[in-house]
Amino acid sequence: MKQFISVYDAGNINALVEKALMYKAEPLKDKTLGAGKRIGLLFLNPSLRTRFSTQVAAANLGMEAIVFNVDKEGWALEFEEGAIMSGSTVEHIKDAAPVLGSYFDILCIRTFPSLKNREDDYSELYITQFIKYCGVPVISLESATLHPLQSLTDTITITEEIKKSKLKSQKPKIVLTWAPHVKALPQCVANSFSQWINAWGEADFVITHPEDYELKEEFTKGATITHNQDEALKNADFVYVKNWSTYKDYGKIYENDPDWMLTEEKLTLTNNAKVMHCLPVRRNVELSDEVLDSANSIVTQQAANRVWAAQAVISTLLTSLKGGINS
Ligand code: CP
Repeated sequence: MKQFISVYDAGNINALVEKALMYKAEPLKDKTLGAGKRIGLLFLNPSLRTRFSTQVAAANLGMEAIVFNVDKEGWALEFEEGAIMSGSTVEHIKDAAPVLGSYFDILCIRTFPSLKNREDDYSELYITQFIKYCGVPVISLESATLHPLQSLTDTITITEEIKKSKLKSQKPKIVLTWAPHVKALPQCVANSFSQWINAWGEADFVITHPEDYELKEEFTKGATITHNQDEALKNADFVYVKNWSTYKDYGKIYENDPDWMLTEEKLTLTNNAKVMHCLPVRRNVELSDEVLDSANSIVTQQAANRVWAAQAVISTLLTSLKGGINS
């Protein structure tokens, strides 16, 4: 592994999931692997889970983690090549990234999309420029279009649930359902979850959303897509709830019908499904209290698993840096 920005960097998904579950069983198994190494976490946007889980994961591997909230504490960064920097940006990524690369062994960055210009967002300019100029392995803490650590976590959580349930011998039915929201949100989590579940290939995968909320086909190809949520939910083993804004007419909210919120009544259509959400969640907008507070909800377990996903990825990168077998 040279970087971790999408499912294509994961190698064998099941092997990475098993590595994460191994760390969950024995967090300090490799407590000296990262001794003397530093990991830098740059945030251009807010975070709770990603920030702390990555720090905890690094600490479990004996690594020093330093967090930098670029949006609040740093110089405003320019990412465009050839920009005439007479506006609000103060430092070019071409100058900042190699400096950071000289301070850290691994760098992580979180960026969000503008949701204004689809071509710009889907070009992934920020993370691409950061990788180009920093000279060390990069982990995405969420980019304009993908959230790979979240999706690895989701795959880990589904795997551990399958292991402890009666589902062991059959393909689980996993449903990604759109949910209402008051703000236009990125497509990252939905894109990334679709990319990972399709690549994993061990589920009957259904995506349901209102008309005009189609995600980019590159990520959804292989899934069954329906606008009928009730039909989608039938016999589901896992229901992943997430809002996203429109992809086609980019970054818009067309639909906010509260009927799309997952309720206890809708859950009766499922195979007593486990309910997932990446968090943060708007209660009683995206997901009802009754579902979030029920035994079906595994959102806290899912968020807790962020540590083991990050630890598996950092550990694999550290082994690669040492020229180990995973490199
Ligand atoms: N799920 C997730 O990425 O949470 P944070 O935004 O709090 O990091």
